[in-house]
Amino acid sequence: MPSMQSLHDVFVHELRDLYSAERQLVKALPKMAKNAGSPELAEALESHLRETEVQVTRIEEILEGLGERTGGVKCKGMEGLIEEGKEVLDMDGEEPALDAAMIGAAQRVEHYEIAAYGTAIAHAQAQGHRDAVRLLEATLEEEKNADKLLSQIAERGINALAVASADIDITNGGLASRSSKGNGTARRNGRSNRGLKNGSSRSGGRRGAKKAT
Ligand SMILES: [Fe+2]
Repeated sequence: MPSMQSLHDVFVHELRDLYSAERQLVKALPKMAKNAGSPELAEALESHLRETEVQVTRIEEILEGLGERTGGVKCKGMEGLIEEGKEVLDMDGEEPALDAAMIGAAQRVEHYEIAAYGTAIAHAQAQGHRDAVRLLEATLEEEKNADKLLSQIAERGINALAVASADIDITNGGLASRSSKGNGTARRNGRSNRGLKNGSSRSGGRRGAKKAT
């Protein structure tokens, strides 16, 4: 465990933790984007991946400026959040409901980061590290925008679709069959819509594979 003698030590530890968090996210986001049913959701996750790659380099720049190395800390908070995101990827069910669950997992990640960057900015300010403040604020802005965009995507369509897909199931097969067997018509529709908008790239993903079993 690192020894905390001053705010400098706390700040460096926070930056290393964020560095680990962002790098874990760079690995996880492509899998989430690939499995998103909604093209809009997939695009939002892909664009946040590109932002996240830049966020990693900002932290490198700050730590370099402080004469400190980047490694040595694993962000266990992000590890847990990504673990929960992976659980969503393993779920079977209706596409809009799965997308709604994925958005929930992604927003937990964003809020965790927003909290961490808020603290790091305050610590940078307290030490008069103006360049660090500027870089961290740029990242914080991106995290807030990503969170907002996810809310919009959910509220503009996916949530309502997820409510409606349950209605379809109730009329066709009753509640009891919904979770385990799903609804063939609803799934086929969902996938063919997605195929039209996106080409075939996403049809080989998780949900396509599940249907074959
Ligand atoms: Fe981030």
